[in-house]
Amino acid sequence: MDKLEYSIRAWPTNGMPATLADRTRRVYDRLAAVYPISTMLFHSRAHRSVVEFSGICDGMRVLEVATGSGEMFRRLVRANQGGSTVGVDLSPKMAARTQHHARREFPGCRAHCQAVDARYLPFRDASFDAVICCYLLELLSAEDIGRAVGEFHRVLRRNGRLALVLIGQNTAVFNGIYRVLGKVAPAFWGRQVEERVPDLIQAGEFEIVRDHMVRQTFYPSRVLVARK
Ligand SMILES: C[S@@+](CC[C@H](N)C(=O)[O-])C[C@H]1O[C@@H](n2cnc3c(N)ncnc32)[C@H](O)[C@@H]1O
Repeated sequence: MDKLEYSIRAWPTNGMPATLADRTRRVYDRLAAVYPISTMLFHSRAHRSVVEFSGICDGMRVLEVATGSGEMFRRLVRANQGGSTVGVDLSPKMAARTQHHARREFPGCRAHCQAVDARYLPFRDASFDAVICCYLLELLSAEDIGRAVGEFHRVLRRNGRLALVLIGQNTAVFNGIYRVLGKVAPAFWGRQVEERVPDLIQAGEFEIVRDHMVRQTFYPSRVLVARK
C-alpha cells in the first residue's frame, strides 16, 4: 500500500480538507425517501453498465458500499439470487430503506444491508468476490478515498472485481455547475475526483479491466472495473 499512500499525498484538497461524515450522514438520512428520484434520473444507466461489465453472476458473495436508497442493491440481488449480497451505507435511514425494499422484493434471498462507514469495513479479509461502489468517492477526502480503496482491496478475494462509478469530468459546463454545487453543499455533492481515481486504484494494486463512459440526461458517469 506504500504506492497508494504516496499517490494520495499528491492530491490537492479541492477545498475539501476532511471528509464531512457527520454532515453527510445527516443530509443523506433526511433525503432517504426522495433519493430514488435522483437515482432514476441520473444513475440508473451507469448501474446497468456495472451489472453488465463487472462479471457478477449467481452464487457470488457481493458487497455494495454506499447503497444509497438501494436501487443498485436490488439489481445486484436480482443477479445473485443464489448467492449472498451485502450492502452498507453511512446513513442508517438509507441502509434501512435498502434492506426493507430488498427483503420485500426478494424474500428468499440472502441480502442484508447495514449502517457502516466505508472507511472501516467490518468484514474479514478476502471475504467477497466483488465489491461495487457507486458515487461515493466524491464525498470523501483524498486520505479517506485511500483508506476506503484499501478496505475494498482487503475484503476482496484474489482476482475479485471492484466496480466503481464516478461522476464524469469530461463536460466543461457540467464541471462548472458541479463546482458551484459542491461549494454550496459540500456534504451532499462533494467534489469531482474521476480523473484521479484510475491512477489511485492502480497504485492500490488493482488492474483496470474495463473503463466506460455513460451519459444520462446531461449527467456523465465513468464506470471502472478493476481486478485485484
Ligand atoms: C451520492 S449517494 C450514491 C448512492 C448510490 N450508490 C447510487 O448509486 O445512487 C452517496 C451515498 O454514500 C453514502 N456515504 C457517504 N459517506 C459514506 C461513508 N463514509 N461510508 C458509507 N457510505 C457513505 C451516503 O449516505 C449516500 O447514501
